[in-house]
Amino acid sequence: MIKSRDLLRAATVVVMLAGIWNVTPSHAANGSQNYNPWGKSYFPNVPLTTMDGKPVKFYDDLIKGKVVAVNFIFTGCTASCGMETARMRQVQQLLGDRVGKDVFFYSITIDPDNDSPEALKAYAKKFDVGPGWTFLTGDIKDIDMLRSKFGLYKPPQLVDGQIDHDLSMMIGNDTTGRWQKASPMENPEVLATQIGSWLSNWKGTPTHQNPSYAKAPVRLPQLSKGEELFRTRCATCHTVGINDTPMAKTIGPDLTYVTSSRDRNWLVRWIREPDVMLAEKDPLAMTLYAKYNKLAMPNLKLKDGEIESLLSFMEKGAAAMAAKK
Ligand code: HEC
Repeated sequence: MIKSRDLLRAATVVVMLAGIWNVTPSHAANGSQNYNPWGKSYFPNVPLTTMDGKPVKFYDDLIKGKVVAVNFIFTGCTASCGMETARMRQVQQLLGDRVGKDVFFYSITIDPDNDSPEALKAYAKKFDVGPGWTFLTGDIKDIDMLRSKFGLYKPPQLVDGQIDHDLSMMIGNDTTGRWQKASPMENPEVLATQIGSWLSNWKGTPTHQNPSYAKAPVRLPQLSKGEELFRTRCATCHTVGINDTPMAKTIGPDLTYVTSSRDRNWLVRWIREPDVMLAEKDPLAMTLYAKYNKLAMPNLKLKDGEIESLLSFMEKGAAAMAAKK
């Protein structure tokens, strides 16, 4: 298989360059300016089509000279890729108008048979993604090759009736040849800092509000299990109680009072299998679905204990809000 061998070869080149640097710095300084093992020679310049139907070349048009975040999704996914898209959206909002200027986001479908440019455009609209973030489709062979090159390829395989795929994204800077795998579970501010500052050679501060380290607590508060789950799995789309990552608009409803306004069994089941309830056309689920842009809440594969922890965290959020009134 090409992928791991190619990756290994590229990694070897990096190591070799590092070696040269140690021995003869002047020589390496000349060479490394022109030579980037993760550049044009590494990424295939395959043709892709944007969600607006525009033909592009992967390396020349999307990657060359840019700081980018690339991930692989498919619009029919009812599991965690919706969460990944929602996380990227948060990062996009934190980076503000830099996205589309000096940082570019790309989401490439792994299901081109079903994801036409129109389908991708509708998906992008559901998530209300801003400019500078392009959804793309292409030939499955080319897309598989790109996934391999990024080390994000998994052979086609169904898990719970869905195509299983690597949920990571790659962030990188083509000019410096610096690439890194990132997890959508990561805190959005950490991701925004990695993309906006670290990869961009500390060019600028990424966020609108620019959090000050002076104000940061000396010790991180101990998060309850429920709060930790909420922050990593739900906060990309929902708020509860105090919203500590102010966003223009959340994707899903605010959940502060949901534990008192909804039937407990309904809630537990909804959090466990929203995809099944939507498929069954549960009336309340359908009303919410219509209200929230027809974006289906993903099935996050939570265990019963995790759902209990989440619900008790949400109950506390409601109590804290009530106490403030
Ligand atoms: C990708 C975005 C996304 C993620 C991640 C997500 N949700 Fe949702 N959620 C939604 C949307 C959108 C709705 C509205 C119903 C619909 O369109 O499916 C919703 C609805 C809900 C509702 C019903 C609200 C009401 O008024 O009755 C609850 C409860 C809920 N989500 C809990 C959670 C919990 C808990 C998590 C984390 C484990 C979570 N959601 C993760 C998008 C998301």
